[in-house]
Amino acid sequence: MDSVPPTSYEPGVLRVLQSKEQTKSFYNKIAKVYDLLSEESEKPMREAGLAMLAPQPGERILEIGFGTGHCLAEIARAVGPGGSVLGVDISDQMLAHAQSLLQREGLADRVELRCGDAGQLPFESNSVDGIFFSFTLELFDTPELPLVLAECRRVLRPQGRIVVVAVSKEGHQGVIVHLFEWMHQHVPNLMDCRPIYVRRALEAAGFSIQAADVKSMWVPVEIVLAQKP
Ligand SMILES: C[S@@+](CC[C@H](N)C(=O)[O-])C[C@H]1O[C@@H](n2cnc3c(N)ncnc32)[C@H](O)[C@@H]1O
Repeated sequence: MDSVPPTSYEPGVLRVLQSKEQTKSFYNKIAKVYDLLSEESEKPMREAGLAMLAPQPGERILEIGFGTGHCLAEIARAVGPGGSVLGVDISDQMLAHAQSLLQREGLADRVELRCGDAGQLPFESNSVDGIFFSFTLELFDTPELPLVLAECRRVLRPQGRIVVVAVSKEGHQGVIVHLFEWMHQHVPNLMDCRPIYVRRALEAAGFSIQAADVKSMWVPVEIVLAQKP
């Protein structure tokens, strides 16, 4: 890993072979069981990311790839009745799950959800205080990463912040990571994501890094807070 130039987010990062239609169909299929499959391992990582984001009362926060909606609910509670939360997800079934969670929790009135590809964010420039990604940025193909992050920069207000939680190529790349990457290459319909360089991708997109951590799940996970200049 030492041979990787410190500013490059591409070397060794696998390409994503799934089309957007395949991604949508995959998450539609697993929406009902997603929490069962992932909650135990991913929840502590998401929580660490939310703590870094630290949403404040009155803020307007966007979550990209919100899944079943747990983070949307936590963010909505943190921004309070004077704040608002936006969400974009490619899966209409995930959106339906998230919407019913928000309704059950009495938070739906401060959250607006859209179904679509985050490669084009349907929001005005300089319009949000913060953006949150949890286990979603690593689903975008390598050439898409700068485009998605440029969209994030566009919709964030100046000095707005972004937090990304994602499976990472930083940290110890042991046997499990190699197995993970093997599965991504050979059974991409089961293992759609792959490790990426989060801090480097954010730096390359022109964000300034405020905090960065690499935690251990069953693979390394980067949790990075960055700011729009
Ligand atoms: C691995 S899940 C993570 C869900 C949630 N953030 C969590 O941490 O529990 C990835 C989510 O990103 C969504 N997603 C995948 N590709 C997307 C895209 N191009 N645009 C928007 N959402 C996308 C999926 O539908 C899914 O809900």
